[in-house]
Amino acid sequence: MALDIEAIRADFPILGRTLPNGKKLVYFDNAATSQKPQCVIDAMSRYYEEYNSNAHRANHTLADEATTALESAREKISSYFGTSPDQMIYTSGATEAINLVAYGWARENLDEGDVVVLTEMEHHADIVPWQQMSIDKGVEVRYVPIDTESFTLDMDAFEVALDGASLVCVVHTSNVLGVRNPVEKIVKMSHSVGARVLIDCAQGAPHERIDFDSLGADFVAISAHKMAGPTGIGCILVKRDAMAEMGPFMTGGSMIKRVTTEGSTFQEGHAMFETGTPRIAEAIGWGAAVEWLDQFDMREVHDHINDVASWTAAQMMDIPGIKIYGDPDRDDSSGAVSFLHESIQSQDLALLLDEGGFAVRTGHHCAQPLMDALGVPSTNRASFWIYNTMGEAESFVEYLSQVIERFA
Ligand SMILES: Cc1ncc(COP(=O)(O)O)c(C=O)c1O
Repeated sequence: MALDIEAIRADFPILGRTLPNGKKLVYFDNAATSQKPQCVIDAMSRYYEEYNSNAHRANHTLADEATTALESAREKISSYFGTSPDQMIYTSGATEAINLVAYGWARENLDEGDVVVLTEMEHHADIVPWQQMSIDKGVEVRYVPIDTESFTLDMDAFEVALDGASLVCVVHTSNVLGVRNPVEKIVKMSHSVGARVLIDCAQGAPHERIDFDSLGADFVAISAHKMAGPTGIGCILVKRDAMAEMGPFMTGGSMIKRVTTEGSTFQEGHAMFETGTPRIAEAIGWGAAVEWLDQFDMREVHDHINDVASWTAAQMMDIPGIKIYGDPDRDDSSGAVSFLHESIQSQDLALLLDEGGFAVRTGHHCAQPLMDALGVPSTNRASFWIYNTMGEAESFVEYLSQVIERFA
């Protein structure tokens, strides 16, 4: 059944917004964060209005309701990602999820000279923790280059980099290029040399159904706020045997079994890594978001986004002076269109687009090594999601052409 985009839009109150300059909002910054449907906002408000309480602590009714809602969200979210609740650890987002692998797993299991393989297209969230691990533990960090013609990962170089690797960390879908990496192949190749694999699905999860158990990666990092959920929450999905190899990262309340003045013992499984007061409202909101997303066939969602993005990119290529970074025409691209104009600075272009009501992102997108590989300091990026329409894309292309005609 075709997606009813107008009905989907009606779920998002913000999409009806008019900006202070009287322009109607056209939100094309979805790779930074998606908008939230009313059911997510309602679920979080209901928690605060009706049963706000700390979870896993007291015996009163409100605390029971909060604990039940928190754990039921864990069931919904882990099941949405094709796994069971014991293989999911709540984090503050994909950044904390990857740091948990670095400080919870790599610090315990890697030593000087052990090899961590990254790619040039990683987000800083999947680079800086490994650079720190290199300083702290002496691990060697290898970067797999991208082919700057096709904007894809150099898989021959990947194979070479795997030699002697202990851990491979690869982004599922680039937040800049919209390129989806062959993660299934990457998992198989990495396991064949005995390396553990982390896939950063911050951008992948909003565009396709991630099935943790069938993907087979040891670790999968997910961010809620890019897939209709609230900010401040995400998770790391961890295979049971990899979780058994992990040691505590953040320490304090909730993650302990017993604390004495002599020392402490810790909870087992995911409870060892969820420290302090849980993100209760956020988990409830994310649970509502996955229920909302679950009504759609993600293949249809992907195709819709891809149609809008590839049409937009094709039109933009006809605008004099525009260069696109990525290949939005590829069937597996994710809806991010990065571009630059040869003479209008990216910041200026973003401000001009904002004047027309178009929200796009500008900057290095937390991917400076990728910017270096592309030979640019920054790009503009229009990124599309489920509620964007072809009509919005048409008005964007028209406005962009006018701006360039006037200012270039
Ligand atoms: C590919 C990728 N990885 C990681 C992150 C960080 O995610 P979070 O905001 O949940 O920490 C982002 C956010 O933009 C991203 O695009």
